[in-house]
Amino acid sequence: MELLRSIKELDVFVAEIRQQKLSLGFVPTMGALHEGHLSLVAEATKTCDCCIVSIFVNPTQFNDPKDLETYPRTLEADMLLLEKAGVSAIFAPSVEEIYPDDRQETFEVGEVSRVMEGKFRPGHFEGVMQVVHRLFNLVRPDKAFFGEKDFQQIAVIRAMQRCTGSDIELVACPIIREESGLALSSRNTRLSKEDQLVAANIYRIMREAKALRMKMSVEELRSRVVEQINAFDILEVEYFEIVDSDTLLAISEWKAKQNIRACITVYCRSVRLIDNLDYSLDVE
Ligand code: PAJ
Repeated sequence: MELLRSIKELDVFVAEIRQQKLSLGFVPTMGALHEGHLSLVAEATKTCDCCIVSIFVNPTQFNDPKDLETYPRTLEADMLLLEKAGVSAIFAPSVEEIYPDDRQETFEVGEVSRVMEGKFRPGHFEGVMQVVHRLFNLVRPDKAFFGEKDFQQIAVIRAMQRCTGSDIELVACPIIREESGLALSSRNTRLSKEDQLVAANIYRIMREAKALRMKMSVEELRSRVVEQINAFDILEVEYFEIVDSDTLLAISEWKAKQNIRACITVYCRSVRLIDNLDYSLDVE
């Protein structure tokens, strides 16, 4: 496995892959890797000849400077995990390498980037699109792998891809959870074990509410989930939206044959946790 620190080194690596006519899978990450990230890597190594993982804590997508500062950085441990997972190369550039000047691409992708995370984290998706666009142009993979943990992120990147006419195939991979049901996240390490167990109620409550879809209106069910989660002292819902999976716009009634997603953000003390669940009527 190679550790590539510069664009120059990356170019040499990618040229070699292309010359050998091998397919290239790409998993963009910000490091502090866990089983969630590794599930994307497993899918990439299974379906492509070579897999490259980027580790880059992208400053432009953090709207809270404290969050950027405290974001875990664990390159040594990440390298060991990726070596074991059969990755061909890691691209871990410096901020100057990715952002050498003030040049800034913008993409107008409409409502998908403005609702939910877009509303509560202004500028976040602009930063995500900027870095993913740059990484895609540098790596030029055949396929790129993203986790449904960040459901809206996938929708935003798909919309960006339509904007740029890129033919990189996006592969969406399911959410990996703790046994407790809590979605794996690099941020979970900021919570004590006890708090993590309390946070697991987010998934439990969303799952239990799902069984009531036909018995309640969308709004009744939405309020119930928010109330039940807020009943825990250390949990506070920022938003809980039941949306059309493609447009990400809130739905007002249950409809068969519609892909529906329940998306939530909850603060557990000062830690911001996100999760989502398929609420389509034909999905158990
Ligand atoms: P990061 O939060 O490191 O996540 C990298 C990828 O891992 C994302 O596609 C994310 O959805 C996926 N992932 C994280 N936790 C997961 C889980 N529990 N199950 C399945 N997949 C999971 O997302 C980013 O980085 C950045 O925004 C990035 C795309 C790298 C751009 O900077």
